[in-house]
Amino acid sequence: MENEKRNTDMKTINKLYRYMKNNSSIEDFMAKFHMNYTELMGILELCRLYGKNIDVIEKEGTYVFEKSPIRNTSVTTKPDLDLNRLVHTELCIVSDTHFGNVHQQLHLLNKIYEEAYHRGIKTVLHCGDLVDGNYPNRPEQPRQQFLHGFDEQAGYVVDMYPKVKGMTTKYILGSHDETHYKNGQATVNEWVSRCRKDMVYLGQDSASITINNVKIFMDHPGGGSAQALSYKPQKRIEILESDHKPKILLIGHYHKSYSFVYRNVRGILVPCFCDKTQFQQKQGLSNAVGAYFLDIYSDHKGNIQYFEPEEILFKPEDMWDEAGKDHHKVKQLIIN
Ligand SMILES: [Fe+2]
Ligand SMILES: [Fe+2]
Repeated sequence: MENEKRNTDMKTINKLYRYMKNNSSIEDFMAKFHMNYTELMGILELCRLYGKNIDVIEKEGTYVFEKSPIRNTSVTTKPDLDLNRLVHTELCIVSDTHFGNVHQQLHLLNKIYEEAYHRGIKTVLHCGDLVDGNYPNRPEQPRQQFLHGFDEQAGYVVDMYPKVKGMTTKYILGSHDETHYKNGQATVNEWVSRCRKDMVYLGQDSASITINNVKIFMDHPGGGSAQALSYKPQKRIEILESDHKPKILLIGHYHKSYSFVYRNVRGILVPCFCDKTQFQQKQGLSNAVGAYFLDIYSDHKGNIQYFEPEEILFKPEDMWDEAGKDHHKVKQLIIN
């Protein structure tokens, strides 16, 4: 019973914590959640108890949240876990950056990498469509792009992808990346991984990767969009042979955000970093911009004992939706 309550508390705390953005006003937060100052202090106390280091500081006359770069992973954070026996893994998951598209949101990707850095995360997994590609059968595409062709797009990844000391991005290539291969046998990974030692190529369309013995499958399906969020991901799991089933399945391509458990696989549809395109608008497709942070405790065989997918979704006001604003204003994030 007590554990049940702890799990419910933790879910509530995780949810509230996501709304406590660094440097955002506590007044706005209290108004949003209809709470007074004493209640807020109680919530902050609970946050700390559940391993999240957060404080309130005064900045230019306003009281704002300050999240500590170093997370407190005290024993009290996870219910029922023998932490001496378990391996802790934290990952950041991103996808579909579509560099070269006028709707790209590189400044938001930078924000995620900054947050990953503050959390001490060393590995980011990118689930494909690094670049916007070049579809000869979509004559409208060039108008939607500020970078045309392979050299410009692959070069942009090399020059602009966030570079954080000690952090590695492991990526697969997706359907849009592959257009360059289909057009002229040019592979984005060839450029990127030769020039950027912090970017490791794992495969075209999919890759299996093991981190701390936890088997993770990265997938970029291609094909039409998933109207029903759970249907296509479940199909992807059904085709995985049971002996080779991963513990975690990460799916890019759909530009949707959804996490689920099916046949003992923890699945995630990973959102993107590109605002709604003309193509999606026409097709009536929704579009989610954001990322996931995964908090995983596993045993030495790689069996997951605790899994917390933290969904970070950006709101329309976070987006630079005026076409071209992102690439005109954004600078490469470099943390040395
Ligand atoms: Fe995509
Ligand atoms: Fe795709």
